[in-house]
Amino acid sequence: MAATTFDFGMIGLGTMGQNLSYNMADHGFSVAGYDKNPAKVAAFGKEADTGAVAGFGDIKEFIGALKSPKVIMMLVPAGPIVDAVINDVKPFLQSGDLLLDCGNSHFTDTDRRLQALEQEGLLYMGIGVSGGEEGARFGPSIMPGGSKKSYALVEKMLAAVAAKVNGEPCVAWLGNGSAGHYVKMVHNGIEYAIMQVIAESYHLLRTAQGLDNAALHRVYQDWNQGRLQSYLMQITADIFTQKDELGEGQLLDKIVDESAQNGTGKWTSQSAMDLFVPLSPIDTAVCSRDISSLKAEREQLAKNYAWAPPASQVAQEKFVADLEQAVYATSILAYSVGFSLLAKASSQYKLDLNLAVVARIWRGGCIIRSSFLEEIMKAFDTDPDLSSLLFDTQIATLINGAQLGWRSSVKAAVDAGVAVPVLSASLSYFDAMRCGRLPANLIQAQRDFFGAHTYKRTDREGIFHTNWPSTI
Ligand code: 6PG
Repeated sequence: MAATTFDFGMIGLGTMGQNLSYNMADHGFSVAGYDKNPAKVAAFGKEADTGAVAGFGDIKEFIGALKSPKVIMMLVPAGPIVDAVINDVKPFLQSGDLLLDCGNSHFTDTDRRLQALEQEGLLYMGIGVSGGEEGARFGPSIMPGGSKKSYALVEKMLAAVAAKVNGEPCVAWLGNGSAGHYVKMVHNGIEYAIMQVIAESYHLLRTAQGLDNAALHRVYQDWNQGRLQSYLMQITADIFTQKDELGEGQLLDKIVDESAQNGTGKWTSQSAMDLFVPLSPIDTAVCSRDISSLKAEREQLAKNYAWAPPASQVAQEKFVADLEQAVYATSILAYSVGFSLLAKASSQYKLDLNLAVVARIWRGGCIIRSSFLEEIMKAFDTDPDLSSLLFDTQIATLINGAQLGWRSSVKAAVDAGVAVPVLSASLSYFDAMRCGRLPANLIQAQRDFFGAHTYKRTDREGIFHTNWPSTI
């Protein structure tokens, strides 16, 4: 291919970068790819009939092969590598050229980079891309943030490569600055909570009801055909059928029970704490991954604190039906707190997010896609300023209908000695949120007692302090 003929550049030819490039090429956009690893450059475009793509190992040649204004996507690990790549390409860029960070960068890094590059006349966008390797290849959910001027340069291409739901692309301009990366971060926080609640239900079904993998497959497949339909439910059902290719039995039973993490769930909780948004299901999901990683300690303590649970008296059919309600209500809560965080961050950081649009672009392609997102979209279409999905009357009906099973499942887990941190933390969040008089009056009295921190009264205006009786 002749020089300066490629529509887009892709830096980072790992599976994600490669697949997204092939997806772009499938839709008629030519892509020049660059990677520091010569093997990846050599392999680029060789695997399949992938249209107009070509690999480059020299950064200057790579950038020289792009049409102007040059639009370059980066799909490299978040952190210092992004800054290093920016420094590598900057000398070859001109005013009006656009760099897109499509990785899971922290939103504050994106703001910093955007401001620095804009001062030099360059355009920059932080773009969340969800859907894993398959999504990148055949249609991810795409969450772009940055200036509208920048978005105009990529709008057509992003709409072409994104997943489609009812013919609508799962992409939309979300807002200025780091809006895209903020939304992607919260997407991942919700992802953590939903993955954890599914894992908790598996633990409970296996331990308290003795279900084997074949029976578990049937439960999750069944749930996935109902109102719990989601990508994560579907892959969970499939996981139970996977044979171990390296030995006897099922693969799942051979996988070490320590969950890893790249940090986006933790960032969601950290940001929520900065903004004073309670995020119990997500916080607890992050904490659960941390507990899982303490494998040696857990194995020791399992010996020290053995618990022989009474046999479950609940018939399996009822147990499964209750648990379906519990997983459903908890999943609603995971989305609900995530959207409440987005609402608060939007006003605090002036992101100007349209939450109905966020729900719309999460309906396809991304890891947390589910049929429930239709309900969320409707809720924000009805009231764009909802501070919590719990205020939506339709969602309230759904949660109320699931309360009994939710409570029964948490009780069953307590009896069985099975940890269900997200199921129970979500229920406690819900019970606290629907409580008009919490015991925080006692906290205020304690604070005033030991630190003269003052309190407000229920019966008169003003700030009060009491000389509490001395304890010494
Ligand atoms: C996605 C995913 C993805 C994320 C992985 C791993 O939307 O495609 O969220 O971006 O990196 O799920 O995340 P953890 O390693 O933190 O589990």
